[in-house]
Amino acid sequence: MRMVDIIAKKRDGGALSPEEIRFFIDGYVQGAIPDYQASALAMAIYFRDMTDAEIAELTRAMVASGETVDLSAIRGIKVDKHSTGGVGDTTTLVLAPLVASLGVPVAKMSGRGLGFTGGTLDKLESIAGFQVEQTTERFIDLVNRDKIAVIGQSSDLVPADKKLYALRDVTGSVESIPLIASSIMSKKIAAGADAIVLEVTTGRGAFMKNEKDAMRLAETMVRIGKRVGRETQAVITDMSQPLGRAIGNALEVREAIDTLKGQGPDDLRALVLALGSRMVLLAKKAETLEEAHRQLVNALDSGGAFDKFKQFIANQGGDPSVADHPEKLPQAKFQMELTAKNSGVVSEMAADEIGLAAMLLGAGRATKEERIDFAAGIVLHKKVGDPVASGESLATIHSDREKINDVIDKLYRTIKISDHAERPKLIRRIIT
Ligand code: URA
Ligand code: CA
Repeated sequence: MRMVDIIAKKRDGGALSPEEIRFFIDGYVQGAIPDYQASALAMAIYFRDMTDAEIAELTRAMVASGETVDLSAIRGIKVDKHSTGGVGDTTTLVLAPLVASLGVPVAKMSGRGLGFTGGTLDKLESIAGFQVEQTTERFIDLVNRDKIAVIGQSSDLVPADKKLYALRDVTGSVESIPLIASSIMSKKIAAGADAIVLEVTTGRGAFMKNEKDAMRLAETMVRIGKRVGRETQAVITDMSQPLGRAIGNALEVREAIDTLKGQGPDDLRALVLALGSRMVLLAKKAETLEEAHRQLVNALDSGGAFDKFKQFIANQGGDPSVADHPEKLPQAKFQMELTAKNSGVVSEMAADEIGLAAMLLGAGRATKEERIDFAAGIVLHKKVGDPVASGESLATIHSDREKINDVIDKLYRTIKISDHAERPKLIRRIIT
């Protein structure tokens, strides 16, 4: 087999055989196939697309390119959740203890963030003492005993994705549905998921900027999941404005705690219930979606989810008293109010721009090496569709820097106030 023939076949619109796909992935990971040939194939795939059979085979070959996590020692159906990302995305911090409190095993491997704010690991590390490094043995024991553990992603999973993604990033072939779908699904499968619930975000703060592309990606991943024997469902959500009110690591932990207490912002609660009820259903802990939803609402209202959060934090070395005393979380030296310059209705809060403002405050990292300021960030008091009076606070800015004119200017440019605006619908579609 020759790589040049595989490239030409895809260039001409042909469907690659399983052998050809495996030849490419294996050869590329081993270094036998050079970057320029892999990049030519990625571009051909971008233009010519792939059949479901090809994408499923590509996913399998990518999983097989590295180690896989064996979660068979954990009893029950392991349902993983993945989000294509957003701004102020506090979901996992709430969702993991919530579904675990119903007996769904949550054996989660999470990542750090690059860009707007930290990832789930960074957010958890804003709790004093919390350890994201655990041995595999302890990880499995914790999930068997208490149904929840969250650790860092092993660097040995799906090396094909690391190499291919870095190549796509510099050769203009990131935005290809078959390449994105196989990249995401291979990582979930290698991490040991039996079933997968996907949140595909859409809008300015998301990877997929419009709903049509988000739908295509979600539908493809749901079909591929079924083909490779992992029941998969997807929820398409709006990320035109940040999720919830808090953007920043410790601020989002606090928002998660509020939500686990049955308080917290309505949109975050609604999203967690939508994703969680599907996780409970796929884990076969409920017969219907309505029953799963009822159980989750009960776990939020009864304090069961909140207690599970405290147990989870304590199990991994963190100080669980932050749940009752969130003022113990890192706090910024200064808090400044951003007041509205005129009255009306908030009509725009572009998630990407607000995410960049949070990053300027130190809540996120622009390069992998940068350190995060856990206390820094923004708490929104208004969201799109909310009426506002001149002089009222739109947001509180948390920062150790006293002079933050750059951030204030950016937020004023980003937040638009008009005569009229609709509240965007958070949950756009469900794909099963
Ligand atoms: N996220 C991923 O994990 N992979 C892609 O290819 C794109 C987004
Ligand atoms: Ca949030």
